[in-house]
Amino acid sequence: MAAAIDLDEIRDFLVELAKQAGELIVSQTGKTAYDDKANSVDLVTETDAAVEKLVATKCTEKYPHFEFMGEESYIPGVTKLSEKPTFIVDPIDGTTNFIHSFPFSCTSLGFAINRHPVVGVVYNPFLNLMYTGIKGQGSFLNGTQKLPLRQPPAGSKLTLQNALIGIEWGTQRSGVNYKVKTETFKKLAAEDGSMVHGFRSLGSAAMNMCAVAAGQLDAYWEGGCYAWDVCAGWVILTEAGGRVVGGNPGIWEPAVDQRIYLAVRGGDGCEEFIKNFWDSVEGQLDY
Ligand code: IPD
Repeated sequence: MAAAIDLDEIRDFLVELAKQAGELIVSQTGKTAYDDKANSVDLVTETDAAVEKLVATKCTEKYPHFEFMGEESYIPGVTKLSEKPTFIVDPIDGTTNFIHSFPFSCTSLGFAINRHPVVGVVYNPFLNLMYTGIKGQGSFLNGTQKLPLRQPPAGSKLTLQNALIGIEWGTQRSGVNYKVKTETFKKLAAEDGSMVHGFRSLGSAAMNMCAVAAGQLDAYWEGGCYAWDVCAGWVILTEAGGRVVGGNPGIWEPAVDQRIYLAVRGGDGCEEFIKNFWDSVEGQLDY
C-alpha cells in the first residue's frame, strides 16, 4: 500500500520555500524589466521565471514522484491537471503590483490531490504575511493567528448591501467578458442595484482570497485566472469557513481549474448571498 502523504510536512516545506522565493522577489523589486504576454496589460518579468525555477527545482528534488504545474512553464492545450498529487504554483501572483512596487505581490504555493486543493501557502514578503492552510486542520496567518481574523458583528447577516467585494478588471479589456464584468460592477455598485459598501482590487487572486479568508473582504468575484492563482488560497479560505463556488450562476462545486470563481467568507447568510450575487451577474463569463 502506498504511504500516506504527510500534509504537515508539505506545508512546512512550502513555508520555507515561500520565504526563499520572497527574498528573491524583494531583492529584484524595481530592478527587472517586463514583457507583454497576451497584450499590454498581461505582464511577466524575468523574476517570475527565476522564482518558478527555484520552486520547481526544490519541489521536484524533494518530491520526485509528484507532478508540478506552474504559471511560467504552463503550455496551453498541453499542460493538464491530473488526479496525481500536484504542486500548483504561481511564483509571483500580482506581477503588475511587483512591476509598480505596489506591495501586494505574493508567492502562491498550492498542493492538490485528485484535483482537490489540500495544502495552501501564500506569502507576501513585502508585508510579511504568511497564510497557510491544510485541509481539515484550519488556516492561519503567520503560524499562530487563526483565520478568520475578523468575525462579522453578532447577529449580522452577510448581504450584498453590507459587503466589501474584491474584483479585478483582468487582462481582457474588450469583448464579452469585459462587458459582463463592467455591467456587473455597475449593477452591484448602483443605488438602484445592490449598492454594495465598496470594491477593492488587490491585484492578486491569492491575496484577494486570503483577504476573504481573513474576513477583511466579504467576497471576491473573478473570471479568467488559473488554478495556480487560486489553489493555495482555496484551502486557506475554505479552512477559514468560507466557500468557493462558480462565478457564473448555478455552479456550487467548481473545479480548481475552472477559471471562473466566486469566493465568499463563511457566516450567516452565505448561501443566500451567493444566490443574490449570481442574480447580479449580467450575462455569462466565458473563458
Ligand atoms: C493575475 C492576478 C490578478 C488576476 C489575473 C491573474 P499574475 O496573476 O492574480 O489578480 O485578476 O487573472 O492573471 O499575472 O499577477 O500572476
